[in-house]
Amino acid sequence: MGSHELPAGVGFTALVGAVSRAREADRSDPLFTDPLAERFVAATAGVDTVRLGPADPGQITPVWEGLYTFFGSRTPFFDENLMRFIDGGTRQIVLLGAGLDTRAYRLDLPPGTVVYEVDTPAVLDFKAAVLADDKPRCERVPVAIDLRDDWQGALLAAGFDPRERSVWLAEGLVMYLGAADAGKLVSGISSLSAAGSGLIIEVLRRLPVMADVPFVDEDERTLALVFIDNCRAGPGLPADWMTPLGWRVDRQVDFIEVLASQNRPVPLLMRRDPADPLCTVLAAGTKLRD
Ligand SMILES: C[S@@+](CC[C@H](N)C(=O)[O-])C[C@H]1O[C@@H](n2cnc3c(N)ncnc32)[C@H](O)[C@@H]1O
Repeated sequence: MGSHELPAGVGFTALVGAVSRAREADRSDPLFTDPLAERFVAATAGVDTVRLGPADPGQITPVWEGLYTFFGSRTPFFDENLMRFIDGGTRQIVLLGAGLDTRAYRLDLPPGTVVYEVDTPAVLDFKAAVLADDKPRCERVPVAIDLRDDWQGALLAAGFDPRERSVWLAEGLVMYLGAADAGKLVSGISSLSAAGSGLIIEVLRRLPVMADVPFVDEDERTLALVFIDNCRAGPGLPADWMTPLGWRVDRQVDFIEVLASQNRPVPLLMRRDPADPLCTVLAAGTKLRD
């Protein structure tokens, strides 16, 4: 399985998500299981790339502990809030910056559900190659486009119906967009969201810097630079822009509080600067009017 072309640049961060979800399953207390995640990791075997995991797989390092935590512990927040909208009758899901998210395969989604997966062609091609023989549990529609281009047109052309309710997930995405692009993205989401639609989103509290990163070798340093070089300002805290765009904020929570609720420790990566920890904020909101 080492023959696939791996997504590079910001697309590579999708692989870090996949490896983190795969390692969650190795724990004695997993928060969820994502059986397909390991397949993406296996597809990197034999490809000359930055190492996906600590040099000694049996010896966790602070960088990988931090990454596994960032990518693993947010999953239940997104799953639970997504299922709240699905249980309320929403049948259109849009995964923005879908990466190697396998929710269309792993969640118990009712008949009639359509999952639109928006990401760049490189990421979606890699995903399609790895999952070529797997069947999603609902209709799955890949939409290959850069979210700084006319993604709304592409989504509508793919069959998305803005008159019906939808639920949008921006999990680990908006920190890779500058403020102007992120602002356009969230107003685009709002204009396509019928009343009762949901938005679940994660933003960074501040940009990461090299001083946050307790790397132990060159691969970890290179990996840190992929994130640092690609991180941007994003849209700001959801509570500040959701309300003016017509959303009610149902929940906004600091990632560190999420960890406390899971009885999991705050990794060193998130507490190297105690005065201003490197941390995200998770939010879920409901659109109040069309
Ligand atoms: C850290 S990954 C997160 C993927 C997935 N949501 C998850 O949680 O595993 C970020 C994803 O956003 C995508 N992305 C970043 N900027 C993008 C853009 N301008 N247009 C489309 N996708 C983008 C990347 O290709 C990548 O797949």
